[in-house]
Amino acid sequence: MSRPKVLVTRKIPKVGIEMLQRVADVDVWPGEMPPPRDELLKRVAGCNGLLSMLSDGVDGELLDRAGSGFKVVSNYAVGYNNIDVSAAQERGVAVGNTPDVLTDSTADLAVTLLLAAARRLPAAIENVKQGEWKTWEPMGFLGVDLRGKTVGILGMGRIGLAVAQRLQGGWGMKVLYTARTAKPDADQMGAKHVQLTEMLQQSDFVSVHCPLTDQTRNLLDETKFALMQPHAVLVNTARGDVIDQEALADALEGGKIFAAGLDVTTPEPLPPTHRLVQLENCTIAPHIGSASVQSRDDMARLAAENILAGLAGKPLPNPVS
Ligand code: DGY
Repeated sequence: MSRPKVLVTRKIPKVGIEMLQRVADVDVWPGEMPPPRDELLKRVAGCNGLLSMLSDGVDGELLDRAGSGFKVVSNYAVGYNNIDVSAAQERGVAVGNTPDVLTDSTADLAVTLLLAAARRLPAAIENVKQGEWKTWEPMGFLGVDLRGKTVGILGMGRIGLAVAQRLQGGWGMKVLYTARTAKPDADQMGAKHVQLTEMLQQSDFVSVHCPLTDQTRNLLDETKFALMQPHAVLVNTARGDVIDQEALADALEGGKIFAAGLDVTTPEPLPPTHRLVQLENCTIAPHIGSASVQSRDDMARLAAENILAGLAGKPLPNPVS
C-alpha cells in the first residue's frame, strides 16, 4: 500500500517532521516566505494531510484541489481563523490546532509588551542607540506603574487567564474580564465578569485574547477607545483584526490612550511606513507570542499528532471546537 502524502507549508522543528516521516511522504515547503497561493494549490493536490500555518488560507478551493483522499488539516497555531472550518466539515476533513503548549509563552509576551509599552522602553532604547542620551532626566520617559491597577482581559480563555494570573500574582492587579459566559477559573481567582463598556471604562490596562470571528472583527473601534482612560495601555497578542487600526492610531496620537503594545497587526508584516509603526507610543513585535524553543517544539509535536490521527481515520487529539 502506498504511503500517505503530507504537505507542510513551512520549515518547523524537526521533531514534528520526523514523526510524520515515519508514516508518510512529507513535502516541506522550503521557502522563508509562505508558499504563494498557486504553489500551495499545486502542492496540495493529491495530498492526504496538510500541516498549515496561520498565513495559509485554507478554503473550499484548496480542499477541492487536494482531492478526495484528503483527510486532515492541522494548523501550527492555536488560532485557526485562516481555515474555513465549515468548508472542511462539509468535505469530511478533520481540522486540528495546537492549544495549551503556547499558553505560557504567549502570556509572557503579553506581559512583556504591557511592561514595555507602559514604561516606554522601546523609545528609551532608541534614544540610547541614536546617541541622544545626554544625562539623567528627571522628567524623561515617564511611564505608568502596574502595582494595584486594574487590568481588563478581553476574552478569558487559556491565554487570558494566564495573563490575569501573572498580573494579579506579580503586581496585585485587580482583574476584570469579558467573555460570552463567566469562567469558573477566573471567578475563583477573584476576577470579575463584566460588560465590555464597563471593562474599558474601568481598566488601566486592557489585554486582548479573544479569537477573531465575525463578532470580534474591529471590536475595538473609535467608540470603544473613547471609553478608555487617557493613561490606559492596550495590548494585543490575539489577532490584528480585532482592533480598528486607524482608530487606534487616532487614539494614540490624540492622547485618548497612553500606549499600545501589539504582537499582531493587519496586515502582517505591517509596512514600516504605517502610522502605527511611526508612533513613539506604539510598540510592535512581529507576531512572536509563541516563539520560544519549547513552545514551537511542542506545537510541532501536537500538529504532527493531529495529522497522524487524521490519516488513520481516528479522532484528532486536538480538534478545533
Ligand atoms: C497562534 O497560535 O494562534 C499564534 O498566533 C501563533 O502561535
